[in-house]
Amino acid sequence: MRRVVFNQKGGVGKTSITCNLAAISASLGYRTLVVDLDVQGNTTHYLVGEIDAEAFPAEAQGVAGLFKQTVGSRKMRQNPDSFVWDTPYENLYLMPSSPALSDMEKELESRYKIYKLRDALDKLDAEYDRVYIDTPPNFNFYSKSALIAVDRVLIPFDCDSFARQSLYALMDNVSELQEDHNPDLEVEGIIINQFSSQAKLPGELVAELEEEGFPVFETFLNTSVKMKESHRYHRPLIDLAPSHKLTRQYLNLHLELEPAQ
Ligand SMILES: Nc1ncnc2c1ncn2[C@@H]1O[C@H](COP(=O)(O)OP(=O)(O)O)[C@@H](O)[C@H]1O
Ligand SMILES: [Mg+2]
Repeated sequence: MRRVVFNQKGGVGKTSITCNLAAISASLGYRTLVVDLDVQGNTTHYLVGEIDAEAFPAEAQGVAGLFKQTVGSRKMRQNPDSFVWDTPYENLYLMPSSPALSDMEKELESRYKIYKLRDALDKLDAEYDRVYIDTPPNFNFYSKSALIAVDRVLIPFDCDSFARQSLYALMDNVSELQEDHNPDLEVEGIIINQFSSQAKLPGELVAELEEEGFPVFETFLNTSVKMKESHRYHRPLIDLAPSHKLTRQYLNLHLELEPAQ
C-alpha cells in the first residue's frame, strides 16, 4: 500500500503527518519506506537530522539520484533500493530529498519522466509493506509523480478559512490526474490537523466540509507544542512521547487507515 500526503498549501502538516504515520506503521512491524519529494527536505531532516553534504553529493543521493539515473545511459542504472537510507528507527527507511531536485525538475518534466517514480516503487514492492510520500506545497512534477505512483492520497487540512478554498482547487487537480494518469487513485480522506475545540471556526469549517460530502477522518489532530519538540529532536512522536495525547490521536488515525486484523 502506497500513500501520498498532499496539499498545495504549505504549513498544513504534510511533513508532520507523513513522518508520524510512517513511524507508527514501522513501530507496528510494517517495513515502511518514506519518500521525501519536497526539495526543502523537512522530512529528511526530521527523520535523520543534519546531513553531511560532503559525504553525500546532492545529485547522487536519494530521490535526486533515483531520478538522475533515468536520464542517459541505461547501463548505469542501480536498483532503486540503493537510494534508500536506514533511519534510527526499526523498520523505517527513507529515500531522502536533496537540494538538487529543484535544478533537475525542468529537465525531468521535458523528458516525460513522470512515471519513473511509480516504476521504481513497483520494483521495491517486495521490500516494503508500506510507503508514505511527502510532497512539496505545489502541484508540480514531483507531486504529480507521487500521485501517479500511489494507491491513496491523504489530504491535511489546517482549519483555516483559506484552506477551504485551496481544497476545491486541490480536488480538481487530483480528479484530473486520476482521469489522465492513475484511475485507481483513491482520496482516502481529509485529515483535520491543528484542531482546536475551544475556537468556534475550526468546528464550523469541518462541519461544512462534511456537509459538502468530503471524506473527513473521524480522528482530529490537536495543536500541541509536542509536535515542534518532536521536529526539533528529530524524533517522531511515537518515539518521543508514546503516551502523549497527540500521539494517541495519531495512533487512532493510523487505526482508521489500517484497522487491526
Ligand atoms: N498538530 C500540530 N500541533 C502543533 N504544531 C503542528 C502540528 N502539526 C504541524 N505543526 C507545525 O506546523 C508547522 C508546519 O507543519 P509541517 O508538517 O511542516 O507542514 P507542511 O509539510 O505542510 O509544510 C511545523 O512547524 C509543525 O511543527
Ligand atoms: Mg513539508
